[in-house]
Amino acid sequence: MSDQERIAWLLAVASVFLFGAWMLGAGPRGCSVAPKQKVTPPTEAAPECEGLEIGDTRATECPLGGQKIEVCTQAGFKVAVDCVGEDPSGCTDFRSVVDTLGGFCVSCHPGYDSYAVASAKAQEYARRTQLPKDHPEHMPKGGELDDAQKKAISDWFQDGARDTCETEPPVGAFRSFDWLEEKILSDLTKLDSETRRTTRYLVTTHRRNAKASAGEAEAYDDAVSKAINSLSFERDLVTPSEVAEGIWRFDLEDLGLSEADWDTVEGADKLDVESFTSRGELLKVLTGTQKAWLHVDNFDDTVFRNSGVYHSLTDTPQTFDDLVERLDVDYVEDLTDFDALLVGLGQSPLAPHNRLLSRHDSRDGFFWVTYDTGVPDAAEKNLFQFPLLEDVGGVRDFEFVASEVIYSLPNGLLGFALFNAAGVRQDVAPVDVVRDFENPVSAEIRNAVSCFRCHRGGILPATDQIRDHVLANGAEFGTDKDLILALYRGNTETSEVIAADNESYRGVLEDLQVDGPEDPITVANDRFLTQWDLQKTAGFLFLTEDDLRVCLNGSATGRAQMGQLLSGGTVTYDQFVATLPALKADCRLFQDPLVIP
Ligand code: HEC
Ligand code: HEC
Repeated sequence: MSDQERIAWLLAVASVFLFGAWMLGAGPRGCSVAPKQKVTPPTEAAPECEGLEIGDTRATECPLGGQKIEVCTQAGFKVAVDCVGEDPSGCTDFRSVVDTLGGFCVSCHPGYDSYAVASAKAQEYARRTQLPKDHPEHMPKGGELDDAQKKAISDWFQDGARDTCETEPPVGAFRSFDWLEEKILSDLTKLDSETRRTTRYLVTTHRRNAKASAGEAEAYDDAVSKAINSLSFERDLVTPSEVAEGIWRFDLEDLGLSEADWDTVEGADKLDVESFTSRGELLKVLTGTQKAWLHVDNFDDTVFRNSGVYHSLTDTPQTFDDLVERLDVDYVEDLTDFDALLVGLGQSPLAPHNRLLSRHDSRDGFFWVTYDTGVPDAAEKNLFQFPLLEDVGGVRDFEFVASEVIYSLPNGLLGFALFNAAGVRQDVAPVDVVRDFENPVSAEIRNAVSCFRCHRGGILPATDQIRDHVLANGAEFGTDKDLILALYRGNTETSEVIAADNESYRGVLEDLQVDGPEDPITVANDRFLTQWDLQKTAGFLFLTEDDLRVCLNGSATGRAQMGQLLSGGTVTYDQFVATLPALKADCRLFQDPLVIP
């Protein structure tokens, strides 16, 4: 860098600094933790933007090809994507010579402007173009390049005759936070300003950084598709596009989600990885949100383990009746017309109590309900004596205390809900009624995270015991007998119905190319909540393990609360959440490096 360039760079850094300060709305960067509440960005663009609004971009041609993209901000234009082949490395690549070769050589040497041909002859190009014009081997024959063109060809050869100077790390290699933000920023600048406002990214790169196995990395990628489509009430499936290794772009609008929905996710995000780098600040301006991207496991945890966020994003109604109405289910009619199918179980793997299931058609496919009961302290909790539901209009009504619901989303994936006996929506099922026996972390069944685990293949098989019981002991049931037999239609029909429901569900998973043996959201969530060792923590923070060691050693709080990572130990998810703010501040994570003049 020349002195002039250095001064220009410092000025740029200083303006980013000020720019960062208004974004933060508080003290100097790095010293305070980002405020939780959404900062309302200023709406006045700088006068130099000349009619553009904040977040609009302008493109200018680069001298050596390509475009430089700048974003209009309150503080003037900021460079989002710089010209290639110039700063900062000074490397000259093929783009800098291709026009010269095309203009001066191809008339006699067809193909010299193709990289494959030219790169093999780069040394000879450099030699012959430097020779004096009267030398017999001088090129171009009968003409001469100017000094800049000669120098470009010679520099290109010296720099290794590369196609491009952008050094993309090889597949599977460590990727830095810088790399991540650069990829997202350059992708965003290719979209129009309207689209950028609703464009978001989910990232799986951090798991590759932490050397996740190929199967696990694939599950994380699948978790992206399954998660976003499980929040959608649109008919079409949305396929996220991978803009660079492990960075997945989607549009909230395609999912029927709003910018406010994303704000809800941001507000509930416990890890709160907000970037204050200059690129990070531009991402905010371009998308109008504080976090244009999230780690996919953190996203899944935030939207599926936090029931409030799930219910808000899926607009799940407060009551069973409203959900029935929303999904166009003729719930009561199905029970009186015998369109519903009932299945009765002596017990379930979820609890040693009787369990009733009912199935209904809905606008988008099916609507399955469980009716669960706790300790059988009343005769009515015995399904074999009381197998009917109140709406049927019989006498022997089963007394249940909680219900679980699975329904088809318009795109064919599944929606989940829990209700109490009064039909009021719940976040968690009573643990004495049903429990998650497969979960390594907690037995609590929580909407919706728990449902994904066991219902990975859709509807689970259930074997009815009521029909045979009533057929064998019919006299006991009086006038209810015919009602019961009309609704409990036995195991042949039950298994056919379940198979058909699952066939359509699995077809949708195939369309999404979610084909692993386990549910990807569950894989991501189980890993996310357990086993934070040095490798995983470093990966999550986009640090190398060595950098995380340095960071922990330099942070008193970090060492006190997470020091065991340095000696091969692990921390809990909660310990990581509690310590992250100190690490961010002490290690200046997600900020530009300090420039010391
Ligand atoms: C007017 C026609 C003409 C133009 C224009 C021309 N060349 Fe050549 N070039 C020739 C001829 C004829 C030969 C074969 C004679 C020789 O080797 O000197 C040749 C040979 C070469 C060779 C060696 C043969 C080979 O394929 O390795 C190289 C290298 C070369 N030219 C490079 C260039 C480059 C680079 C340019 C453009 C900057 C260029 N030439 C422009 C006519 C031309
Ligand atoms: C630990 C595993 C497990 C979890 C977690 C779980 N289920 Fe189930 N679920 C089952 C099994 C097994 C059945 C089959 C009936 C039975 O044996 O109880 C079932 C059946 C159902 C049914 C009836 C249709 C069918 O699949 O047979 C509904 C509806 C249902 N569950 C909803 C939910 C909802 C909603 C959640 C999340 C809040 C959930 N389940 C979580 C295991 C689970």
